[in-house]
Amino acid sequence: MPHSILFVCLGNICRSPMAEGAMRVVSEQREIEVIVDSAGTGAWHVGNPPDGRAQAAALANGVNISGQRARQISMRDFDRFDQVIAMDRSVLGDLDGLRPETAGGALSLFLDHVAGREGQDVVDPYYGEEDGFAIAWADVMAGANALLDKLERG
Ligand code: 4NP
Repeated sequence: MPHSILFVCLGNICRSPMAEGAMRVVSEQREIEVIVDSAGTGAWHVGNPPDGRAQAAALANGVNISGQRARQISMRDFDRFDQVIAMDRSVLGDLDGLRPETAGGALSLFLDHVAGREGQDVVDPYYGEEDGFAIAWADVMAGANALLDKLERG
């Protein structure tokens, strides 16, 4: 089975859909097989496409994420995925609380995988200015490449 990664944010309409989209294109370009999905800790936006500003930020970089639909994380996800990756420290704390003790998947903070960015959040752009989405896109691209570097090294 290919390695599987679940990206998690609060709403699953901004950061984790961008992370999923970035990971899909970068893994395809680098020819590294990986199963990718995303989810939110919250249920407010279940069934909705990504926020229009997130779609625009991705599309500005040639990536179409319009087909994604938000879903809430389920307990099974902690076993179904090799890695569950939180977009910020608050989400990481929530996931740590939810995660069954027997879960097989590893839990981590996304930017902990990026050299020099350890402990940092992919800042939630939802309530902020438009440029927050461009910053989030740059962060998820850096994270996707760093994760693939690690997978490639084995
Ligand atoms: P996300 O952004 O966690 O990156 O998808 C948010 C989207 C919606 C809300 C919060 C964050 N909300 O409170 O509705």
